[in-house]
Amino acid sequence: MRTLVFVVVAVAGMALLPETPVNAGVGKDPATAYAPAGPTSPPAAQAPEKAFEVVARRFAFEPSTLEVRQGDRVRILVSSADGVHGIGIRKFKVNSLIPRGKTVTIEFTATEAGTFPIVCSEACGDGHADMRGSLVVVAK
Ligand code: CUA
Repeated sequence: MRTLVFVVVAVAGMALLPETPVNAGVGKDPATAYAPAGPTSPPAAQAPEKAFEVVARRFAFEPSTLEVRQGDRVRILVSSADGVHGIGIRKFKVNSLIPRGKTVTIEFTATEAGTFPIVCSEACGDGHADMRGSLVVVAK
């Protein structure tokens, strides 16, 4: 009888043991503790998104000036109305080919304020060098 009691206590103790260190670990590890809290996501994920549709044609971008606020997530859908063009915004490492009949999606975060050139990055004819626009990032 005494042996049976000991076994029961031992089993109960073993059942409890694994839980204690696991719970303590979760409570003390900030990374693990805050991971399930979805709303507490980093600021970058909550940044507002500015979306534009831009048409590239010989030899202009329409619209040619895009304005966002510093920190904005920027999404630009670019399509070509005629031949092949490109869109480059060097400051934010944007450089994409715009094939005829395709819409290309460009996304970046406007981390820095200023006025940055938008250029056509694909030789597209006589007016290629004039095919320019501006990205205006207003300081927050
Ligand atoms: Cu359009 Cu070069």
